[in-house]
Amino acid sequence: MPEIGAKMISVKGSRLFIGDVAASDLAGKFGTPIYVYDEETIRSKVRALVQHVAYRPLKVYYAAKANTNLSILRLIRDEGKEAVGIDAVSPGEIELALKAGFRPGQIMFTSTSVTDEEMKFAIGKKVLVNCDSLSQLERYGRLNPNSSVCFRINPDVGAGHHSHVITGGPESKFGVWADDVPKAFAIAAKYGLKIIGMHQHIGSGILETGKFLAAMKVLLSVISKHKGELKDIEFVDFGGGIGVPYGPDQAQIDVKAFGSAVSKLFSDFCSGFGRQLTMALEPGRFIVAESGVLLCTVNTIKQTPKHRFVGVDTGFHHLIRPMAYGSYHPIVVVDCCTSEKTEKVAVCGNVCESGDVFTRDEHGIVDRELPSVNEGDVLAILVAGAYGFSMASNYNTRPRPAEVLVNGKEAKVIRKQEDISHVVYGM
Ligand code: LLP
Repeated sequence: MPEIGAKMISVKGSRLFIGDVAASDLAGKFGTPIYVYDEETIRSKVRALVQHVAYRPLKVYYAAKANTNLSILRLIRDEGKEAVGIDAVSPGEIELALKAGFRPGQIMFTSTSVTDEEMKFAIGKKVLVNCDSLSQLERYGRLNPNSSVCFRINPDVGAGHHSHVITGGPESKFGVWADDVPKAFAIAAKYGLKIIGMHQHIGSGILETGKFLAAMKVLLSVISKHKGELKDIEFVDFGGGIGVPYGPDQAQIDVKAFGSAVSKLFSDFCSGFGRQLTMALEPGRFIVAESGVLLCTVNTIKQTPKHRFVGVDTGFHHLIRPMAYGSYHPIVVVDCCTSEKTEKVAVCGNVCESGDVFTRDEHGIVDRELPSVNEGDVLAILVAGAYGFSMASNYNTRPRPAEVLVNGKEAKVIRKQEDISHVVYGM
C-alpha cells in the first residue's frame, strides 16, 4: 500500500477504508465506476494551508478547476471561512462558486483567450477580473472603465510535473511578459483602471518549495521596479501549483516549511515596500487530490504475449491523467491491499483506444506489481480527487460516474451517475 498522505484513507487488515467505510462496501452499495472523496481529508488540507502559511492578511483562492463538485466547494467554504475564496476560469465556475455561497468579492476570474462576453459576465457578477494579456486588459478597460483590475505576468520561470502544465517561461501562452508591463500601466491609465493585484501561476504539481520561492522573487522584483505605478496595489497572488505525491518515489511537500518560507519572503518584501499587502495563493490539487479515489471493477483478464491486461469498467474518459501526462496513480485491490502473491499486470480501461491504460508513463505501458487479481475484484485508483472527475468526458458515449462523499461512517451521493439519456441529448 503506497503512502498517500491522507490519514482517513487507510488500510485496515488488508482492506481499503475511506473514512470508516470499507471501499468494497461503497462499491457494493453505489456500484462502480464511482468517485469517492473523504471529507476530513479535504478539511484538513484547508486547515493545514491556512495555519502554516502564517502571513496575514492571507487569501487562499481554491482553484475550482481541480474539482468543481458543489458539495466539495461548500465544504471548502465552510472550513476556510473568510480566508478562502475561489479561483474561477470560466463563467461556469463563477456561477458554481456563487451557488456554493462564496461572495463575489471572494472570487477571482483568471482565464485565458477570454471573450468580451465572458468578461461582461464576470463584471455583471461583480467578480474581480485578472487579465492574462494586453489585449484582454484593453478590452476590459473599454468594458469597465474606472474600475479595479488585476493582471497576470509571465515571470519567465516555470515548474510542474509535465510540460503541459508548466505555465511560466518561453513556451507558455500565459501572462504579460515583464518587458510589456509598462504597456499594461499605460492601458490602465487610459481607462482609469486601478491595478489592485499582480498575479502569476508558474505551473502545477510542484514538490520543491525552492522553485516556488524563485518565481515569487521574480514577481516581487517586477513589483518593486514599478512601485511608482502600483500605488493602488492591495494584493500579490503567487498562483497555485503545490504538488502532492503520486508515485512511490515522491514525498509530501513539507507544508510547514513551505508556509514559513513563503511567509517570510513576503513579509520581508512588504517591510521594504512600506505596506502590508495581502498574499494570495491558488491551490487546487493540494486541497483535493488525496481525498479522492476512483473505484472500478475488473471485468476482463486477458493474457497476451507481452502483458497481462486487467480490464476495468472505467477508462480515460473518467480519469485522463495517465493518458494525458503519463501520470502515475497508485492502484490497490480494495479487499486485498497487501498479499504475498503478486503479479505484474497492465490495468486498462474500456475506451476503444490503445492508450487507455492506467499503468503507463508518457511512452507507453508500464506493468504494475499488484496482488493477484480476479475478474469481479474492485480496484481503487488513488489520489484521484484533483483533475479526475473535473476532466471526465462522455467520450465513447459513456456516462460519467457518480460522486460520493464520505464523512466518518456516513456516505452520501454528491453527484448522481449520468445515464444513457445524458449522453444522447441533443439528438
Ligand atoms: N491558478 C491557476 C491560474 C491555474 O491555472 C491553476 C491550474 C491553478 C491555480 C491550480 O493549480 P494546482 O494547485 O492545482 O496545481 N490537469 C492537470 C493540472 C492542470 C492545472 C491547470 N491550472 C493535471 O491533472 O495535472
